[in-house]
Amino acid sequence: MAEAVVEWRGAADGGVLLDGFHAVKHALRFGADVRIALSDDKAAVLRLAQGLAPDVVPDLDRLLREVPTQVLHELLLRVHPTGVAALAVRPAREAHLAALADSARPAPVVVLDNPRNLGNVGAVVRLAAGFGATGVVTTGDLDPWHPNVVRAGAGLHYATAVERLTVGTLPPGPLYALDPEGEDIRALTLPDNALLAFGSERHGISPELRERADHLVSLPMRPQVSSYNLATSVAMALFHWGGPAPVERP
Ligand SMILES: C[S@@+](CC[C@H](N)C(=O)[O-])C[C@H]1O[C@@H](n2cnc3c(N)ncnc32)[C@H](O)[C@@H]1O
Repeated sequence: MAEAVVEWRGAADGGVLLDGFHAVKHALRFGADVRIALSDDKAAVLRLAQGLAPDVVPDLDRLLREVPTQVLHELLLRVHPTGVAALAVRPAREAHLAALADSARPAPVVVLDNPRNLGNVGAVVRLAAGFGATGVVTTGDLDPWHPNVVRAGAGLHYATAVERLTVGTLPPGPLYALDPEGEDIRALTLPDNALLAFGSERHGISPELRERADHLVSLPMRPQVSSYNLATSVAMALFHWGGPAPVERP
């Protein structure tokens, strides 16, 4: 048990906290370097995995250490209802930058211009992962790997390239800035190598990003409604782009 605590504290330094079963499951599925998982009831977590995601059982069985309930609460402060958490390594920035800069990108990059709400950014990471977007780039001072963003992203930071850049260092590609004043998205086809940029919750698209944009694009909205929520706007734009190929059902 003491060994598990030392291991956890070592991995916590600079590590990414995966809070709850679904976050751990997604991170494992998308190749995260998970160092350790903790629970006060290993058998219960493995039963849960067997029922919901049998593909991750072998990894979980290898990584999961059981500690007394009190120790779990001391280490985690807030224990997820599924009773499991893990620590993973934050991926190398260089690998992400290479994927983002690839001019033959097979799917758009979502750009969030100075987002303020950590939950919104996590929801966008989850959307980007689901649609198979190349990545999520934020500008501004918010860290897109902040623990609350990772929590809202359900462990899917490992399924897409999430990095912070500046407007001046955005990847190449046609930039479509989403703004209620723009051209109706329904008249457009969004190319796979597009950068889809969204403004901050309070101020919208910054003048700098507006200047760099190749197209201003609007989502259909009734008069007198000012705007949609940031994450729902990303969802609509990605849906309009297309998303992954349909899965054949037997
Ligand atoms: C909550 S909105 C920002 C509202 C802000 N008060 C403004 O003046 O734009 C956040 C972002 O979502 C996107 N968005 C929201 N509604 C939109 C719409 N109808 N058409 C295009 N983009 C929209 C834009 O990128 C916008 O900057």
